[in-house]
Formats: sequence, structure tokens, C-alpha cells
Amino acid sequence: MEKNIATFEEYKKEYDKSVTNPEVFWEEKARNFIWRRKWDNILSWDFTKAEIKWFEGGKLNITENCLDRHLEKIGNQTAIKWIANNPSEKSKSISYKELHLEVCKFSNVLKNNGAKKGDRICIYMPMVPELAIAVLACARIGAIHSVVFAGFSAKSLSDRINDASCTILITADGSFRGEKVIPLKNISDEAMDSTPSVKRCIVLERTKSKINMQKIRDVWWHNEMKKADEDCSIEMMNSEDPLFILYTSGSTGKPKGIQHSIAGYMIYTEFSFRNVFQYSEGDIYWCTADIGWITGHSYILYGPLLSGATTMMFEGVPSYPDSGRFWKIIEDNNVNIFYTAPTAIRALEAKGMEFVKPYDLSSLKVLGTVGEPINEDAWHWYNKEIGNRNAPIVDTWWQTETGGIMISNLAGVTPGKPTFATLPLPGIQPCLVDEQGNEIKGNSVKGRLCIKYPWPAMARSIYGNHERFKNTYFNAFKNKYFTGDGCLRDENGMYRITGRVDDVLIVSGHNLGTAEIESAIDQHKNVCETAIVGYPHPIKGNGIYAYVICHKKPKNKDALRIEINELLTKEVGPIAKADKILFVSCLPKTRSGKIMRRILRKIAEGETENLGDTSTLLDPAIVEEIKKLVQ
Ligand code: WTA
Repeated sequence: MEKNIATFEEYKKEYDKSVTNPEVFWEEKARNFIWRRKWDNILSWDFTKAEIKWFEGGKLNITENCLDRHLEKIGNQTAIKWIANNPSEKSKSISYKELHLEVCKFSNVLKNNGAKKGDRICIYMPMVPELAIAVLACARIGAIHSVVFAGFSAKSLSDRINDASCTILITADGSFRGEKVIPLKNISDEAMDSTPSVKRCIVLERTKSKINMQKIRDVWWHNEMKKADEDCSIEMMNSEDPLFILYTSGSTGKPKGIQHSIAGYMIYTEFSFRNVFQYSEGDIYWCTADIGWITGHSYILYGPLLSGATTMMFEGVPSYPDSGRFWKIIEDNNVNIFYTAPTAIRALEAKGMEFVKPYDLSSLKVLGTVGEPINEDAWHWYNKEIGNRNAPIVDTWWQTETGGIMISNLAGVTPGKPTFATLPLPGIQPCLVDEQGNEIKGNSVKGRLCIKYPWPAMARSIYGNHERFKNTYFNAFKNKYFTGDGCLRDENGMYRITGRVDDVLIVSGHNLGTAEIESAIDQHKNVCETAIVGYPHPIKGNGIYAYVICHKKPKNKDALRIEINELLTKEVGPIAKADKILFVSCLPKTRSGKIMRRILRKIAEGETENLGDTSTLLDPAIVEEIKKLVQ
């Protein structure tokens, strides 16, 4: 294994090298892996056609690099440590040897059920080790996995299956989440009513729920495993063959099947995992994401396994059986590196310190955050109460499309700064552009965040729709990948992501980031979380509508409104004063924790009937509650 970048000086040196000679830089990284045939060409690219190819001519299999190559040295080390939803159920430790064996067996199960190289296989499963096994088995036989988060509805599942014409669906009888049992097979059945491409459904027994098994189409995981051979050689894959498809929502209703390819993704997830988290041998690493999202793909599975790490997998939710669950798991397992989302941090902060205090969190060396801008208050709470001011926080900015972490401090090696993702990883060349696409040079500037040079883990296409891929990411600004995020670069060249550009509000001709306003309001000591949306305003163009969750129910709402506006005036400027402030107990969020602003925007506009699709909401009842408040 290559050594991690260990000092700020070294980072600067590596960064310079990666920019002056990217191909040499990445070729060195590529040499750390097992290849069955060496590449002919390191990189070819043309952003105008949205064509990017890394290590063409190379042949490899990512699972040989995740599993086989570790067997001799660390075969008995735990690869996956799994924690069940219910604290009384025993956790499981699966060594690299065991994981290798299970993956080989399940690869044969897939083959026995008709799977071939290049087939698309949909995985709709709970957070259990078999999910990891299914993903890796697809990769081993060269099938393209499409994991669909197990909180999605039958409609979302069938849309995704149909978009990629998946031939096999792997699911479970059910899934435990907190106190609930989610009937995954029933949902799958409903989905499969309209997915003609699915020829086989492999069902894992998890909850022992009563389900229907359709003859011929449906088979049990455990029966198939009993019949399966233990040996399965790797399928020889080309560097640029697709590894997986993962759906992400776009500006239109139809989700985009973001497609990643094998070699570049492998090299980049390993490199970024080790360096950002400063992983060292023996560390216990826990990322709380679900494998149904990109964070789970890159930083529960591929990055850690490629690095030979012990990666934890948690089936449950942070609030079950109580809001101390995360902290208990950290204590019980001596977790060294902990990676979670700001939304979880804020929710747990709001529950109070009595859920944190009982636990010994001294094993923590590194904390991470991902998914949205982290507000100042949550950052400090995380730093002080969880990290004991002793564990650097890495604020990692990246996207489903980028495949891996793009802008982040390297834990304890490069400087951190609250609410800043800070500096780009080696190999990443960010730039800020104005609305016309002119690059904004220098420091203390704001703009739209683009990347001007390819990196190995970048998405290669949208499945079945390369035109949409090109239009969404490469047409907005010539010769640049456009991220869709707004960003500022401070006086020291550090980057702070201010939120999606599509969430920017133009108020009286001024650009205001909703995230910026939110984090200002969040600084109020009685404010837990805020969501800002715009609504049509006769004079300003857009008015600012704030949905605010308080820690304690405000005694005098108008007094609190005045205080919030004073704070906004102070933090952002008088222009950022909220026109309307509504105190709510919850915000409508998707299952990945993103606030569904589209709905809040409609309510702010006075629309309470046609709110559009609310099926991806974690709890649709919240919408009803908010509607009542405005009536
Ligand atoms: C946002 C998640 C600020 C951003 C890995 C991005 C962030 C979108 C951060 C991608 C961060 C992610 N700071 N914003 N550290 N990380 N984002 O595809 O707007 O689910 O474009 O990937 O999340 O979300 P996605």
C-alpha cells in the first residue's frame, strides 16, 4: 500500500505534481493495483463530447483488488463489521477470507440464475452484509449493479429497473428500520408487475415476514447459496467497462442513471479514502450512510475494501432504540473514524447531551461530514461534544457524479475551517465561473463551481442517455464539468460550498444562497434547523420565506422573528431579512436527508393542493402539518 500524504508541505507538492503532470501522477497510483493487462493509454478526453477515458486497454477486476489481493496478508482481519438494527441481535464480523468466499459463492448464484457480463442487476436490500456481497458479486462477474435505496417506493423501483432493463432483482423479505419492518418483497412484487425485463428475483430471508414467492421467477438466497460452487474466477474487465449505475435526481422529474466505470473509480476511491480520512492499518472505520447512495458505494464498500480496512455497516437508524445509538456503537466498537451527514448531526444535537454523555467516545481520531453544507453551530457541536476538540473534522464535498471526494481537508494534515470543504484533493482542478462562464480568478470571490480537468472517478455517462449527460454537465460552460453548486473561495484560497445554484435566490437583484441564510439563522441559540425558499414578491422579485425549527417552543414568536432578522442583518446583510418566518416542528426531507424545497416553495407560494410527487419523502405527514400552519 502506498503511503498517505502526511504533511501540508507534502500535500502541496503532490497537488502541484497532479496539476502539472496529471497522467504521471495517476499512473503512479494505478501501479498500486493488480492488473491482468497493462493499459495502453492513461487518459483521453473531450469535454465537448462528454467523453472521458482512463487507462484504456487495461484489464482488471475490481473485486480482485478489494478481496483476493488481501487474502494472504490480512485474510483473517475483519473486512465488514455489521451492526443489527435491534441492539439485542448479535453483530457480525466478516473477515476478508469469509467475504471472498461468500462473494465467490454468490457470483456463482448469479451465473446459475442466468446473469452474464454486461447485464444490469438491480439490488433493493436492507443494510445487511448480503447487500455488500451482492454488489461485489456483480462486479466479480462483470454485471453492472444498480442499487436502489430500500426506502424507495414500488414506483421509484420499477422506474429504475425499467430505465436500465435489469434482468435480475435481488431483494429481501423485509427490512428492519427502527421499530418498523419494511416489506421489501411486497414492494418488489408491486414493482415487478411492470418490469418485463426481470427474469429472476433472488430473495434474502431477513425479517421472516410472510411473503409470496412466484414460481420460477422467485428463488431464495439461502437455497441458491447451498447449491453454489465455492470457486469463482474473476471476469476479465476492461478499464472503461461500466461498474455500476446509481440514480440521482435531476432538475427534471426523471432520475438520472449515473454511470461509473471500473478502473478510474477504483483508483480514485482508494486514494481519496486513505488520504482524506488518514486511514492507517487497524483503524475501525464507520460511515453511517446507506449503500443505496454514492457515499455508501464509495466509502462503505469500495474505498475501504480496496484499502484493506475494517468497514462497519449499520442496519438501523440513529434514533433507535434512542438517540444515543450512534455514540453507543462508537463506544462498543472503538470506532476510530466516523463519517456522517450534517442532518444527522443536527438532529442528534437537538436531542440534547444526555444522549451523548453516557458514552466514551475517546477512540475517535477523525470525524467526517458529507451531503450538504454543514452550518457553523453543528460544526462546533460535532467538534466539541463528539470529537472532544481532538478529532479533526473533514468536510468532504463531492457528488454522485464525481464518484469520490473532491474538495476536503485531509484529516489533521491540511488545515480545516468550520463550514469550509477547504482545498481540492490532488488531481482535482476546481474553478469558479460567472454566469457567462468566465473564470473568476483570485481569492475572496464567489461563483459557480466547475472542474476543468478530468479525474479518474468522474461519471462517464447517464445510462442510455449520453446526450442528457453532456447537456447537464458539460454544456453549461465550455470545456468544464459544471457541478451545479455555488461556491466561494476565501482569502486563502479555501473553498466553501454555498449550496446548489438552483437554490439561489435573487432578492432585489442580489444573489443570496439559501444555505448562507440558513446557516445564519441557525446561529440563533433557539434555532435547530432552517429551510429557506423564495416566493414571488411584487417589489423584490423574490421574497425570503423561512421555515424554522426551534429547540424550545418560542414563548413570543414575534420577538423571535425580530431577533432572527437582526441576526440575518448582522450575518448576511439587511437584504437577507426574511419576509416570512414560519415555526415548524419538522421539515419535509427525502430519505437521504435532503430538504425537499420544491414542496416548501409551493407552500410558500400559497399552493396547498398540487404539491407534486411526495412519494420520496421520509414522512409525508409533515407536509400536512405545515399546510395546516399556513392556513
Ligand atoms: C451537496 C453526496 C456542501 C452539494 C456525496 C452536492 C455538499 C450534492 C457537501 C451532491 C459538502 C455534498 N458541503 N455541500 N461537504 N457534500 N454536498 O449526489 O450540493 O447525493 O452537489 O452526493 O450535495 O449530492 P449527492
